[in-house]
Amino acid sequence: MKKAKFQKPTGMHDIIFGDQRYFRSIINIAENIFNYYGFSRIDTPLLEDEDLFLKGVGEATDISEKEMYTLKTKGGDRLALRPEGTASVVRSYIEQGMANRPQPVKLYYVGPFFRYERPQAGRYRQFWQFGLESLGDASPVIDAQVINVLYAILMDLKLKNISIEINSIGDKECRNSYKKMLVKYLKSKSSSLCSDCKRRTKDNPLRFFDCKDPKCQAVKAEAPKIIDNLCEDCHAHFKQTLEYLDELELPYQINPCLVRGLDYYTKTVFEFFVTTKEEKSLALGGGGRYDYLVKLLGGKETPAIGAAFGIERIMQAMKDINLVDGFKPKDRVFLAQIGSLAKSKSLVLMESLRKAKIPVVESLGKDSLKIQMAKASRIGSKFIIIIGQKEAIENLAIIKNMETGRQETVPLDQVVAKIKKG
Ligand code: HAM
Repeated sequence: MKKAKFQKPTGMHDIIFGDQRYFRSIINIAENIFNYYGFSRIDTPLLEDEDLFLKGVGEATDISEKEMYTLKTKGGDRLALRPEGTASVVRSYIEQGMANRPQPVKLYYVGPFFRYERPQAGRYRQFWQFGLESLGDASPVIDAQVINVLYAILMDLKLKNISIEINSIGDKECRNSYKKMLVKYLKSKSSSLCSDCKRRTKDNPLRFFDCKDPKCQAVKAEAPKIIDNLCEDCHAHFKQTLEYLDELELPYQINPCLVRGLDYYTKTVFEFFVTTKEEKSLALGGGGRYDYLVKLLGGKETPAIGAAFGIERIMQAMKDINLVDGFKPKDRVFLAQIGSLAKSKSLVLMESLRKAKIPVVESLGKDSLKIQMAKASRIGSKFIIIIGQKEAIENLAIIKNMETGRQETVPLDQVVAKIKKG
């Protein structure tokens, strides 16, 4: 039998070595900001009832039509690997009776998500998101706060060239009358539309604005825009949101064609972009209000807003501007040794260093001092601790300061104190 050579599934990837540094930093910084603004972490199952997503995200969306990983359990339940986080959070909000808590309930999540998409740069079939949801408050100040929290994360990550696109897609009232207007317009232009948009005219006319086909661009430019057709309430909500964003001096632009690809949105929708070094615009994340979703999924009427960011996209943006230097692991001490007695003393010394929270890199398996010193200089450690055969017998260690070149021999039980002194 031919030896099997396994590969990762198409569109999925390992996060290893250097990438883990970005990955962990992004999650740490995001969690610090979420905690500061009073969001608490929620972890929901990776699998949920398939209908939760079909209903939540909408049946006529790319996710429901072609991107879900579904399975039938041995007991006959139809489950789906979560393609996004909002429907799961709303399910939990209803199921766990969170409406009885002080509102808004502010939650965040970090984890993997799954979409059966065509793999390409920045698009995976398993990807990581962090996201936040604020449930139970309709006021525009919450819209501004959610956008501000996300902006703060990107600023703490030291990303540059960030822009925010924002739009309002109205509520049931104004959107229904607007949709009729749009359908009428699209029907009048039917001969100039691509086949997808002809279909969308019937199924989900707002998605016409997501079409990238050059054929549809002129029709798009001339199309009536929802932002010019908002009811009084939605108009006031949007205006107030923008005023708060102005106060915060956030770099937003109104994009009247921004509609987002999921069906649950109402009123404010937004997306964050970064300009890459090739001058391309990369979508880092997006979100919006979803004031009807809790009711649609079986709860009480509850206004809510949230957003999610793609962690791989942020990693890409950080690498693009060489942010790697900002994320050097803390100065680590290198522990070198020669001979088996020195190895055993090193094992014990390493325990004292760990308890003193001094990060250490070792090469316990190596015997050659030359190889160990080369590794230490590659890492850029400030201190190297050397336990040679003679030192091991006498319970001593040599501490070498690589910045000053000075070295001293000290009793093993004083190494921690000396390193701490710096
Ligand atoms: P979304 O726009 O579908 O929104 O996804 C948010 C972000 O996840 C995208 O901007 C992108 O960075 C990342 N992302 C999406 N698909 C992929 C993929 N295949 N590969 C890599 N990254 C990807 C949502 O998921 C909503 N649940 C956001 C939300 C929360 N709205 C309200 N609350």
